[in-house]
Amino acid sequence: MTVRHDAPSKTPVLQVQGLSIAETQTGRRLVQDIGFALQRGQSLGIVGESGSGKSLTCKAILGILPENLSVAAGRIEFDGFDVTRFDHEAWRPLRAVRIAAVFQDPGSYLNPSITVGKQLAQVLRDRADVPADDVKEHALALFERVGLRDPARVYAQYPYELSGGMLQRIVIAIAVAAHPILLIADEATTALDVTVQAEVLDLLADLREQYALSLIFVTHDLAVVAQISDHLLVMRDGEIVESGPTQHVLQAPRHVYTKLLIQDHLEYGLDKFVGERE
Ligand SMILES: Nc1ncnc2c1ncn2[C@@H]1O[C@H](COP(=O)(O)OP(=O)(O)O)[C@@H](O)[C@H]1O
Ligand SMILES: [Mg+2]
Repeated sequence: MTVRHDAPSKTPVLQVQGLSIAETQTGRRLVQDIGFALQRGQSLGIVGESGSGKSLTCKAILGILPENLSVAAGRIEFDGFDVTRFDHEAWRPLRAVRIAAVFQDPGSYLNPSITVGKQLAQVLRDRADVPADDVKEHALALFERVGLRDPARVYAQYPYELSGGMLQRIVIAIAVAAHPILLIADEATTALDVTVQAEVLDLLADLREQYALSLIFVTHDLAVVAQISDHLLVMRDGEIVESGPTQHVLQAPRHVYTKLLIQDHLEYGLDKFVGERE
């Protein structure tokens, strides 16, 4: 009998069931009945136009909903924990350790008055338990791994000295420093020019492979999602209108809204990433 050692474990890294998000005061629902499961090493794309509820869904998963909003229904299970109503203290050992996130504006997540090297070093010490003597070496290796060409030089630089693409690589290095099992990238490449965007997408794909990282990739850009995601959720007005394997959804969309999204994107080169359409 052959035993498969590489068989993925059955328990998903993340399981979201019937998730609804509402204004706490009024009960007005902003996100309604979201459900999906994400296995180790899998990549899920969430697409939909601006305001469709993508970021709120991510924030609920990360436990960082804005103060006036709350989870009104449903359940979020991450890494075996029911995190649906975790408070700040409960989140502490998980956030930025087991689950990490990168957003559109990397600059605003860095301290402007500390060199980026020191900021990564601090995370390696505090969250990844790297001994003080080894921290700098680890930091340089990690900067190299995320594609920064001159790690020693970058280490000593302040955020304002670096380009948007470099800052995003640094934020990604910080995000993966403690070897999370899930990385949420919410419009993480949106502000970057096309070439840099492609490089950062390659980087995320590499990291996913190296660390068996599960990835949630949020974008309004179908062409981006087509390159990076195995599975796709299409959201509109706070609800999932369609979901399935990415190539399947793109080749044979069932919902009229998905068809419209695809139509819009074909002009911008989506066809490069989609196989023969049925
Ligand atoms: N703190 C908030 N209070 C009230 N409404 C909000 C709040 N944050 C977001 N919304 C609304 O919720 C909807 C979904 O927002 P969001 O998840 O940010 O959309 P997306 O990321 O898909 O562009 C939008 O209509 C937005 O205006
Ligand atoms: Mg958003």
